[in-house]
Amino acid sequence: MKTLVVYYSRKGSVKAQAEQAAKEAGGDLAEIKCKTKYKGIIGFMKAGRQAMKKACPPCESISIAGYDKVIVCGAVWASTICAPVRSFLTEHAGTFPEISFILLHAGPEENKATIEEMDKIAGTTHSDYKSIQPKK
Ligand SMILES: Cc1cc2nc3c(=O)[nH]c(=O)nc-3n(C[C@H](O)[C@H](O)[C@H](O)COP(=O)(O)O)c2cc1C
Repeated sequence: MKTLVVYYSRKGSVKAQAEQAAKEAGGDLAEIKCKTKYKGIIGFMKAGRQAMKKACPPCESISIAGYDKVIVCGAVWASTICAPVRSFLTEHAGTFPEISFILLHAGPEENKATIEEMDKIAGTTHSDYKSIQPKK
């Protein structure tokens, strides 16, 4: 099964999980690259604002053509999916092959509602998901 692992990571926690998932699946890895930068306190505030508005910031396109499965990895921002992952899911809505999610969050909640929202955006029913609270 040809697998693509797609991720957005602001500070590296999501990236580490995405790298692990790509290794386990023997798949390819692609980073969502956004024109908007989310570094520092200004970036943090921008990230929170965009997430709350459910904005889709412009990001470089990632092709999913030829893959049997896409594993989408992102973080919870303001109790919803981070904006760059929303952009990616929206870009390919209705065209995904099998999809699964890896979702990171600082709090202890499983964030099931965010997983459901990711499916809604993508027009999918995920085959699997992981909800991860990284150790500090
Ligand atoms: C703007 C912003 C809002 C966040 N909101 C939440 C939240 O509502 N709930 C939560 O559990 N974690 C929240 N987090 C924490 C991230 O989901 C968590 O730190 C994650 O591991 C970040 O991974 P990354 O640095 O690889 O992107 C937020 C982080 C940011 C930057």
